[in-house]
Amino acid sequence: YCNFAELMVSVDRDEGTATVTFARPKSLNALCESMMTELNRAFKMLDADDSVRAIVLTGDNVSFAAGADIKEMAKQTYPEALRVNFLAHWTDAFKISKPVIAAVRGHALGGGCEVAMMCDIIYASTDARFAQPEVRLGTIPGAGGTQRLVRAVGKSRAMELCLTGDVLTANEACSLGLVSKVFQPDEVLGAAQKLARKIASQSAPVVKLIKEAVNASQEMSLEAGLAYERRLFHSTFSLDDQKEGMAAFIEKRPAKFTNQ
Ligand code: HXC
Repeated sequence: YCNFAELMVSVDRDEGTATVTFARPKSLNALCESMMTELNRAFKMLDADDSVRAIVLTGDNVSFAAGADIKEMAKQTYPEALRVNFLAHWTDAFKISKPVIAAVRGHALGGGCEVAMMCDIIYASTDARFAQPEVRLGTIPGAGGTQRLVRAVGKSRAMELCLTGDVLTANEACSLGLVSKVFQPDEVLGAAQKLARKIASQSAPVVKLIKEAVNASQEMSLEAGLAYERRLFHSTFSLDDQKEGMAAFIEKRPAKFTNQ
């Protein structure tokens, strides 16, 4: 996994976790095409690696990511954006079955906030700052800012944030439900990795089914989502891990999950 120029990928096979770190500190981890292509490749590799069960995505102390790379984007044209379906591969990178936890320190602006929202869980440090400042650049959020932010914090607040570019502090983001927990800056990465280990210790197929079911709630009506959830629930009764988990409860011992 060391074959990346703008990302660091480390895998802890014993714990079943991986950490992917944006590594363009000179531009505050601005999300350029080449780094996002690498992220896509790294996530696909980690998703295919049975020894990895949960992934942490992080930046550095100063910045998770300060947005799409404005210097690269400034020269973009409409025909070219249409031709390559500009930014579509960002979303594709996150179409993986294993949970991704964002550990956000510092800036999570524009595309940086949108990438954090593509993750399954966001942990933030007290100095994390979230915003959709595209309006100030004469454009609009292009990777979920007008869609996922609405689902995360509600329409009125999302509309206000997108129309102003105003910044949310970590505590505000937490009280709105965008972020799940807030930590001291030197603790957030460790906390996210600890969470990844906890998830990695659960049944691998059950973790995948839960991620799929929760994400389906964003796409489906309640009636369809409940029916889908019930069918996935039924399917767990075909797993060794369901037999083991329930037997362990009855026998008052820790469960040992084995399904891959
Ligand atoms: C390219 C960026 C960048 C970005 C920072 N840099 N953000 N380069 N794209 N998004 C570069 C700066 O040009 C500078 O390099 C270096 O990083 C340090 O930045 P400074 O501005 O000098 O740092 P500071 O004064 O601390 O200010 C930090 C900041 C500011 C508040 C985060 O950099 C900033 O406002 N950045 C832009 C944030 C933004 O608008 N993001 C949304 C992008 S649009 P040089 O070499 O020039 O000194 C977007 C929407 C896309 O994401 C659509 C969907 C994805």
